[in-house]
Amino acid sequence: MKYEPVDFDRLLGTSGFSDKLLKDHFTLYQGYVANTNKLYESEHSEDKRRFGWEFNGMRLHEYYFGNMVKDGPEGKGNDLSIKISENFGTEKSWEESFKNIGKIRGIGWALLSYDPLGDRLFNIWVNEHDGGNLTGSVPLLVMDLFEHAYLADYGLKREGYVAAFLKAVDWRVVSERLEAATSRELESQNA
Ligand SMILES: [Fe+2]
Repeated sequence: MKYEPVDFDRLLGTSGFSDKLLKDHFTLYQGYVANTNKLYESEHSEDKRRFGWEFNGMRLHEYYFGNMVKDGPEGKGNDLSIKISENFGTEKSWEESFKNIGKIRGIGWALLSYDPLGDRLFNIWVNEHDGGNLTGSVPLLVMDLFEHAYLADYGLKREGYVAAFLKAVDWRVVSERLEAATSRELESQNA
């Protein structure tokens, strides 16, 4: 079975993101899909070691582009707003905490993740693609912090990129991800 790259051309024209940056980023993402397919078929142990890096590189980009929208932002769903307030005090303090993850030096990702077993939200830093993922947790909101995600448009001013990203978040998708994760959890409890 081969993974097929998802087409994210609908994002071209998103405010705060040049088409050139987005197109280059889509090409990079397609490289992760190709490498995931290639490594999947290999039995070499070094390729096995590398598989999670490529796979997560593919999947995190899909979550990332998937939680962006050109004509956003959409409002948060009720359940998501409540959960964020429960876990972070207020939505404002959640946002501050998420932005602070966005300031961490290095290449990686900022995630708002949901741990179904603990019924808890976390803002986390994932180093590169594979360091720091919380086992079993579900990424709700994903922000790319590799330099290729912003350098061409913002230079070293990562904060400008983070602000543009937060304006382009599709909260409807983020809310749906939480809904899907909580209903899966209920199903497994009732099984
Ligand atoms: Fe990226």
